[in-house]
Amino acid sequence: MKNHKILITGGAGYIGSHTVIKLLELGFSIVILDNFSNSTYRIIKKIKEITNKNFEIIKGDITDRRILKNIFKKYKIKSVIHFAGLKSVNESDKFPLSYYENNVIGSINLIKEMELANIKNLVFSSSATVYGNQNNHLYKEDAPLSPINTYGRTKLIIEEILRSICNIDPEWRAIIFRYFNPIGAHESGLIGDNPINCPNNLLPFICQVAIGKRKKLFVFGDDYPTSDGTGKRDYIHVEDLANAHALSINYFEKTNNSFSVFNLGTGKSFSVLEVIKAFEEATSIKIPYQIVKRRDGDVCESLADPSKAKLELGWEAKFDLKRMCIDSWRWQSINPKGI
Ligand code: NAD
Ligand code: UD1
Repeated sequence: MKNHKILITGGAGYIGSHTVIKLLELGFSIVILDNFSNSTYRIIKKIKEITNKNFEIIKGDITDRRILKNIFKKYKIKSVIHFAGLKSVNESDKFPLSYYENNVIGSINLIKEMELANIKNLVFSSSATVYGNQNNHLYKEDAPLSPINTYGRTKLIIEEILRSICNIDPEWRAIIFRYFNPIGAHESGLIGDNPINCPNNLLPFICQVAIGKRKKLFVFGDDYPTSDGTGKRDYIHVEDLANAHALSINYFEKTNNSFSVFNLGTGKSFSVLEVIKAFEEATSIKIPYQIVKRRDGDVCESLADPSKAKLELGWEAKFDLKRMCIDSWRWQSINPKGI
């Protein structure tokens, strides 16, 4: 493992930092590239505290080809796990050019420099958002793709770029992970989802209500055609995602598929009210809430069929919703103001 060096773009971010820890624990050698636009250097210290291992950290931007060239010249990188990107749906529709530049041009630059350095193993963080809003909410990887926001379109474009490259060059190994709804935190409580501004996502908002930072949760709509009228999602523990990334490195070695797509979810969906209840049961903290109108751009339900990942990658989600709530809450209570 020590001689398998992995470049992790966005390794200081939420999913990246959990994956870095997992890979360091498995003995991989790690180089992180992050511009800290949505993370802080303090995360790096926490990773060192948890693992007691050394790794390289470079402050830089994936849109900067010079930095990428230097990294590939300096380190013998064998694989790249590419988390770096902007991820706010709302913001993406307000600032589409920034999103296309950062996510799409950044990825093109990364892929170009990988080609020049003859590095052809890449794991890419995509999203269930690429499926858009369809009548059948149980998504298999071959479901039609029709993202309904700029963020989702940047993900689909990058997927398609990778598909094209793999079509013409069988030496490429591209693994596309479509994450469903990542929540939870490292069991140490030292790292977790660290939203810099007001959280958009459900669990970080619930945690901030629980810690007293916000008075109540606003539940976006109770008139969806679901069991209790609130939106349903497939929540997945960030540690399960980290495990999938660890398995992806072995998959590079054993697969003949040049281009592979995997859903990463549990295959179970929960409504907003069910999540509130699970959080209250797991933590014994009451979450006051108010039903308000639907949020623009929200889908009714999103549910993964994760069977392909189980069959081909040997990956399966291990953590249930209760554990996701416990770990999210531990992180929030140890770090009431985030880090
Ligand atoms: P995050 O914002 O916590 O992490 C992304 C990291 O990338 C941050 O540390 C940020 O500073 C860095 N970054 C952003 N642009 C960069 C650039 N141009 N150059 C270098 N570094 C840059 O996000 P996350 O939740 O860890 O998500 C990781 C990836 O997974 C993203 O690509 C995101 O779109 C995707 N994803 C996330 C979710 C989710 O709910 N968290 C769901 C589906 C897909
Ligand atoms: C959001 C993004 C999606 C992204 C995903 C994971 C939007 C429109 N979609 O999806 O592209 O891939 O995060 O990062 O932003 N909810 C509330 N109150 C809140 C927050 C959320 O009721 O304060 C509800 C939502 O309406 C939804 C569920 O909780 O039904 C989950 O919301 P969220 O965590 O934001 O995830 P997604 O909507 O799936």
